[in-house]
Amino acid sequence: SASPNTPLYRLHEEASRLYHHVLVNTVAGQPALNYLTKRGMSRELIGQFNLGFAPARGEEDLLVKYFTQKGIDYQLMRASGLFTEDQTGQLHDRFFDRVIYPIKNANGQPIAFSGRLLTKKATENAPKYLNSPETPIFNKRRTLFNLDQAKKAARKEGHLTLFEGFMDVISAFGAGVRSGIASMGTSFTDEQVAVIARTTDKLTICYDGDAAGQNAINRALTMLAASRLTLRVVQLPAGMDPDEYVQANGQAKFQEYLAHAEETPTAFRLHFLKQGLNLANQSELLHYVEAALREVAKVTDPVERDLYIQQLAKDYHLNPATLTGQVQELAATAA
Ligand code: UTP
Ligand code: MN
Ligand code: MN
Ligand code: MN
Ligand code: MN
Repeated sequence: SASPNTPLYRLHEEASRLYHHVLVNTVAGQPALNYLTKRGMSRELIGQFNLGFAPARGEEDLLVKYFTQKGIDYQLMRASGLFTEDQTGQLHDRFFDRVIYPIKNANGQPIAFSGRLLTKKATENAPKYLNSPETPIFNKRRTLFNLDQAKKAARKEGHLTLFEGFMDVISAFGAGVRSGIASMGTSFTDEQVAVIARTTDKLTICYDGDAAGQNAINRALTMLAASRLTLRVVQLPAGMDPDEYVQANGQAKFQEYLAHAEETPTAFRLHFLKQGLNLANQSELLHYVEAALREVAKVTDPVERDLYIQQLAKDYHLNPATLTGQVQELAATAA
């Protein structure tokens, strides 16, 4: 086509093919292939996501050499984000000694890469995941990992599933949950909310089962509240992320867990608000109940409201009629 960005797409397509080739067909890729295999990634899954490997720094850089030999224009290479530039203007591969996760647009074209260290030793200068910078074809705030495949699943299953990490999306996919997407390491954005809302009307959030994950769910729910999406939250067992859950318990258990552990945003918030509080202390309990009722007052469905009120009344030995009155008052002042 005549798009001025066509050459950038083509460069990413070729880089993606080369990284994948290095991973699956070469001696240099063997340690990375072993790493992925140890993490439970099948050959099929590696192929489905076109995972690759950028070899360690040697005499010559893989992509610099490959594209230079093909006579690719220097300015095009510079604009691609695939290289870094030294003081003399010389280009070097951005990614080396990293497992490569191609990031594709909604049409399935690679537009960027994320590279993961093989070792666990991330430092300030060598983060665990290194992502491509923004380019004319890669807008981080708008991009969702695996949207190309997930949107097809969403058409059949009626929802998308939001994960924290690339490995979570990939492991879930291997376990038959093909509706998984993830934001780009940077936090979840309003632009991504808009993309999701255009794709489906139901979103399940399944972040890591740690404090960071809980805070991220809370933040995502706030961002999603104004959208018309029906939201559900899945909380994983403490200390586990979705990928770890699949590896530890198997694919069937993961599917089962997702299907049964779903809760509403309000149920999540009622748990979340309790964190760090000592509910045996009367003033902290009153403080919690007040915050919880404020949350319940936002619920528009009267049956759903009653459900939470009855639960709170039961859990803390309170009078449901008093709680209902309080919720009605809060809802009236908020309106
Ligand atoms: P996590 O730390 O939960 O990583 O960060 P992970 O997805 O479980 O990765 P593995 O299992 O250790 O391989 C969640 C996401 O945050 C982004 C990545 O997108 C990652 O998938 N991230 C994390 C970065 O962009 N850079 C980092 O250095 C770390
Ligand atoms: Mn170099
Ligand atoms: Mn995490
Ligand atoms: Mn994780
Ligand atoms: Mn993980």
